[in-house]
Amino acid sequence: MLSTDTSAKGKKLRIVVLVSGGGTNLQAVIDGVRENRITNTEIVGVISNNKNAYALTRAEENQIPHQCVSPKDYESREIFNGKLLGVVNAYEPDLVVLAGFLVVIPPAMIQKYENRMINIHPSLIPSFCGKGYYGLKVHEAALARGVKVVGATVHFVDEGTDTGPIILQKAVEVESGDTPEVLQRRVMEQAEWQILPRAIDLIANGKVKVDGNRTEILP
Ligand code: GRF
Repeated sequence: MLSTDTSAKGKKLRIVVLVSGGGTNLQAVIDGVRENRITNTEIVGVISNNKNAYALTRAEENQIPHQCVSPKDYESREIFNGKLLGVVNAYEPDLVVLAGFLVVIPPAMIQKYENRMINIHPSLIPSFCGKGYYGLKVHEAALARGVKVVGATVHFVDEGTDTGPIILQKAVEVESGDTPEVLQRRVMEQAEWQILPRAIDLIANGKVKVDGNRTEILP
């Protein structure tokens, strides 16, 4: 497990990171903890629905407990949902981090981790979000609409899709000639990999206050 311990009490925020793909956001969190930009935090586990996710390799390389829980291995979605929640609970996390996790979160998990589960979305919510907006599709839609500014959002997960209280956002300029792939990379580098670690550090230090469907970041 990777952790920093800068709090006087020694109590660290236990986080589990759920992934499906390359894990560049996971890597940003791993680096943030190692470089002490994320304080009072311990990455206690990484879980993927995809056994081939490179994110699992990143966990392995950083000695972080990890496992795959795939819907394909269970005869129904309901059984998978129960298994996923059980696996997450077993890590006893204080915070669940969805970092490119492409599986619908079971309602029981949303209830259990109300305001203790966050997601990184590659747009400035409420633009280009909701059902069907994930990965490259977000950037394709932004370019098709001709927006001049895009960005990323970290928000708490509620029962909707990309609808929970927003924690942090960061804007990124669209440049002429951008392809969806080029724009995605810029949004990851300039926004996602910056605000996800920052949001975790704020939560780890008690700086995020939820007020209805909004948040207040304390000084
Ligand atoms: C990224 O596009 C991110 O915006 C979205 O899912 C993808 C995950 O990428 N949340 P990675 O697995 O973190 O590299």
